[in-house]
Formats: sequence, structure tokens, C-alpha cells
Amino acid sequence: MAYPDPQSRSARLYERAQRSIPDGASRSLLLVRPYPIYVDRGDGAWVYDVDGRRYLDVNNNFTSIILGHADPVVNEAVAGQLGRGTGFALATEAEIELAELLCDRVPSIERIRFANSGTEAVMGAIKAARAFTGRPMIVKLEGAYHGTYDHVETSLGAGPENWGDAEAPTSVPYAVGAPPSVSEEVAVLPFNNPAAARSIIDRCGDKLAAVLIDTMPSRVGLPDPDPEFFQAVFAAARAVGALVIVDEVITFRLGLAGNQGRLGLEPDLTALAKIIGGGYPVGAIGGRADVMEVFASRDGERAAVPAGGTFSANPVTMVAGRACMAQLTEASFARLEAVGDRVRIGLRGLFAALGLPWQVTGAGSLFRIHPHDRLIVSYRDAHLRPDEMAVMDRLQKRLLEREVYLPGYGLGCLNLATTDNDADHLIHAFGSALPLVA
Ligand SMILES: Cc1ncc(COP(=O)(O)O)c(C=O)c1O
Repeated sequence: MAYPDPQSRSARLYERAQRSIPDGASRSLLLVRPYPIYVDRGDGAWVYDVDGRRYLDVNNNFTSIILGHADPVVNEAVAGQLGRGTGFALATEAEIELAELLCDRVPSIERIRFANSGTEAVMGAIKAARAFTGRPMIVKLEGAYHGTYDHVETSLGAGPENWGDAEAPTSVPYAVGAPPSVSEEVAVLPFNNPAAARSIIDRCGDKLAAVLIDTMPSRVGLPDPDPEFFQAVFAAARAVGALVIVDEVITFRLGLAGNQGRLGLEPDLTALAKIIGGGYPVGAIGGRADVMEVFASRDGERAAVPAGGTFSANPVTMVAGRACMAQLTEASFARLEAVGDRVRIGLRGLFAALGLPWQVTGAGSLFRIHPHDRLIVSYRDAHLRPDEMAVMDRLQKRLLEREVYLPGYGLGCLNLATTDNDADHLIHAFGSALPLVA
């Protein structure tokens, strides 16, 4: 089949969608241009579209699916809950069970509160840090994505025309209409640069509430992290009395205690989402008991940071999350590492055989394709030029025609249902697509 195909049912559904939804879909990143593939169902590592075609899913709903689509154990847990009701303005034991599982697994998480998305989790962590320290500013990584909260969007789309000094990046607004005060309250840090981390954090001094980092940021290119960078961030934050928030919304899929477990980090606060909901909408803020106390209302007093949410900790998400997370063992993460290595090593071999100066970065079930040979240390190295973006766009279309769905920006994510044969299917698809696009 060819993509695009104006006669396809997906193309026709997209025409219809645009009459009621701006841009035809509620998630801007969802789109494969000129029209998205409309899914009928997913099963394990594969998704099936409304035209009867199948694709190896190398996106996994933006990294939120870890076991595979339609996991039977998660489905059974959800079905059990559906018969008992889907949401109450009262508490359920299911919330405690998922909270206990996560607190038991992650040493830095002494207490946890649930929300509905990663955006809310990051926002809640920042509000907690501000309340705890009584300070307004945050520091974040240049180019890193943390959801759609104004402050954390700063410098998400920075480019050569506005990113400024590499050692002290400019805070660049993202969404049109973000108030100027947002950029003033956010300082931006280049990933993997310990000296810059020290000086930028130091300069914020006693105005700084928290440093927000992702230990393997996808938009920064999934570069190998430099341990010295984390030491510098933690030490500099402690020295000025600021907290460290680690966004593990994606990286929690790298190990039983997330990537902080692999790296031996103990942040003050952690933002979680995606896999911990077992495929359902979720977010969570976890961390030190004394900091998390800002969410508690004692003796009828209002909490320092009131946090609600009609669907926060809803029992469907809670039982799905627990059914998913309880199935994950050390062996699961070893398997994800093995299948991820198979893809990374296979693609590197392919690039070499084709004489292409391309790279693949990543760890565990995550990988990212780079259509160039710049050494990837930080966001600016991974930032694609317009001609490189055009290559990636062509690659995505040729891969769709070969039964592989990879997002256009080249971030790949594998789930546990992915077999070695599936991984080889992916490599073969690249093998026949690349000569057409590179
Ligand atoms: C690292 C990171 N943080 C936060 C978010 C926001 O999560 P959500 O889409 O659930 O709001 C994302 C989403 O992709 C993410 O990748």
C-alpha cells in the first residue's frame, strides 16, 4: 500500500474530523501528515487500522504502553472494576494499592499523590517545590518536553535563531500568548554540561525553587547522560537550597525504580505518568515525605497546595496501573533492554552497511534515530535542520508502507510483546526504506 492514499478510510475519516476538530485531532503530535492512521484495534506489539492494514507499533501511545496492547491481565482488572463503577467522590482501596506498590519500588518516593496526566504531575511537583521553598523560579533543560504547562514549555522549540549562548541559553517562550513573566521565572540549562549547570543554578540563588530534569530527555535526542552533570545539578541545587525534580514520565520504563534507580539518584520529587496507568490516563507526584506534606490539609486547614481533580486516582486507572506494574519484574526490564539492543545494534549495522552517516541513541525500550553524524550531547546537537526533518518525514511514510509506525521525530519505543522477529521486521523495513529516502 502507498501512503498517502486519498481513497483510504483513514483519509476520509480525517476529512470528516476537520469539520469538528481544529487540525482534525486533539493531540498535535498524533498526526502523520497529511492524515493520521485511524486505528481499529491494537494487540500486543501491533496495531490494526480501519483499512485492514497492520503496523508494528514503535510509538506505544507516546511510550505509555509497556506490556503490549490489550494486555489480558490489565483488561481483566479493568473489567472487574467496570462492573463496580468507574468513579466516586469517595476513596477506594485501589488508590492505596498502587501508591504502596510505587512507594515500595522507588526509594526516593516516600509519599505519592495521583493526577490525570504527566503535565499535571510536573505542574504539581513545581507547585510543591514553590510552596516548600517559598521561591518562584525553576530551572529546566533546553529543549526538554514536560507537558503543556506554560513554564515547562520554555525553550521547548528554541532554534538557532533565538537560542542564544550555548553555555547560558535564552529562555524562549513557546505557546503564543504565554505571559513574559513566564520566561523571567524560568532559567534554561544545557543538558550534560556540569559547568553551565553550576553557574546557572548559582546565579538563580535564593530565588530558585527547583531544578527540573529528565535523565534521558527524548527531545534532547536521548543522549547518554554524563554522571558528572547530575552530580553538578544536585550539588548546585542543594547549595542554593533548591529542590531537584526528576521527570520520569517516560524514563520510568527504563527500570524497576525508573532511570533514577539505574543512575543511583535520589531526587526530592519525581513526576510519573504513562506506564503507571497501565494504558489509562494518569499522572503522579512522588517524593520526600516532608515536601509532599504541602498537599496535606491538617485539622481542617487548607493545604499549602490544594490539589484535586475529578478523575484523579479514579479506580479504573488505579486497578489498571497496578495490574500493569505488578507484572513488571527485573526480568521484564532485562527483556526490554535485550530487544532494544537488538534494534539499536541492527540499525547501526544497517547504517554502516548502507554507508549512511546516521545514528541511533537510547537505552532499554527507547531509541531515537538521527539522520546525521553530529555527536549528540545536548539539545542543539539533536536539533534537526529543515532538510533533515524532511528526510525523517519521508522515512516515516516509507516505514508505514512497510508495516512500521514510527513517529516523525524518530523516537522509537518498544513494548514487552515485541518479539525478536518483530525487531527484525523493523530492521528489514528500515533496510528497504532508507535507500528511498536518505
Ligand atoms: C518527559 C515527559 N514529561 C511530561 C509529559 C507530559 O505527559 P502527558 O502527555 O501525560 O501530559 C510527557 C509526555 O510525553 C513527557 O514525555
